[in-house]
Amino acid sequence: MSGNATRPEPTGPAAVLCGLGGALPARAVSNDELAAQLDTSDAWIRSRTGIGQRHVIAPGQATSDLAVEAGARALASARDTAGPAAAEVDLLVLATSTPDRPCPATAPVVAQRLGLGTVPAFDVAAVCTGFVYALATAGSLIEAGVARRALVIGADTFSTILDPADRTTRALFGDGAGAVVLRAGTRDEPGALLGYDLGSDGQGVDLITVRAGGSRQRSEPGPPPEADRWFTMRGSSVFREAVLSMSDSARALAERTGWDPAGPDKLVAHQANVRILRAVGDQLGLDEKQIVVHLDRVGNTVAASIPLALTDAAGEGALQPGHRVLLTGFGGGLTWGSAALVWPDVVTGPPGTV
Ligand code: ACO
Repeated sequence: MSGNATRPEPTGPAAVLCGLGGALPARAVSNDELAAQLDTSDAWIRSRTGIGQRHVIAPGQATSDLAVEAGARALASARDTAGPAAAEVDLLVLATSTPDRPCPATAPVVAQRLGLGTVPAFDVAAVCTGFVYALATAGSLIEAGVARRALVIGADTFSTILDPADRTTRALFGDGAGAVVLRAGTRDEPGALLGYDLGSDGQGVDLITVRAGGSRQRSEPGPPPEADRWFTMRGSSVFREAVLSMSDSARALAERTGWDPAGPDKLVAHQANVRILRAVGDQLGLDEKQIVVHLDRVGNTVAASIPLALTDAAGEGALQPGHRVLLTGFGGGLTWGSAALVWPDVVTGPPGTV
């Protein structure tokens, strides 16, 4: 189920990753805390998902608060890695499905709060694939010469759209943000994005959705049913589609990049469920050491999941300069996508607290 691919011309500029940072809300919610409110248990959540805790924003906080902190950390990382000019970005792309407001996009206010002046700034909505879509968008604008340096942020606050009574989704999702800085460089440099694979299938619109709040519901008379306000997911279908889409997309991109699909040093896949990560690994012929796992501490942070996992793995030394890294995501839409790079020597720290 691989989608349309784009691959930068070897002769043109490449987009090179040179900064990385993350942000999490201060409040961590343990499985036991959820079990005190809902009919669930630490044992069920750990054994069925691998998740031990998730972070949740405080009343009054919003997605942009996390995005600004992650963005600031990624810009600082770019300065430390590649010098002051690397942080002078001329583009901001924000992946989110939980914008501060339905209108306008959240990216311009994030750019303003980061002091980026009047750079172009826009949101990309592809749910859990959002970061890969945003990375491919920003990377392609650099490859086309439209931008020189870009800040790419994935940020979501799914706690704001979960049904408080739904034990399944409340166990799975957490809030967070992660960000990278891309700069124009050459394809043979470590950190250069070597290719993308992106796809979608709108037939799956009902598998992962919030029914109310958009033009379809708002054009109807009367208020929406209460249940339509909340996020819903058909868990077992999503599980199956996630495994198929991520393994097909990652395999297709690995082959186009000239890599053995079982050969990447690290697979950084969307962090939804550790059983999904293992199943994707099995499909590709990877062993556990090749698969980055971060969801045990943060749950599924949607568009933030891949850059937060990168930040954690780089900070802990699991990602080493020279590692061949495959990123792959799957989410609502349905959407899926992958990107490939050789890991650069990038200076980063732990996620900030908001
Ligand atoms: N505690 C206890 N029991 C639970 C819980 C819970 N937190 N959640 C569900 N259950 C129950 C169900 O109600 C069901 O009970 P029943 O048999 O009496 O009806 C039982 O556990 C088994 O349910 P299944 O759905 O078969 O459980 P499964 O092993 O498939 O795990 C899960 C469910 C975790 C949701 C899994 O299907 C999953 O991870 N799906 C994919 C999620 C995902 O990939 N999301 C990413 C995309 S989302 C996005 O883009 C925003």
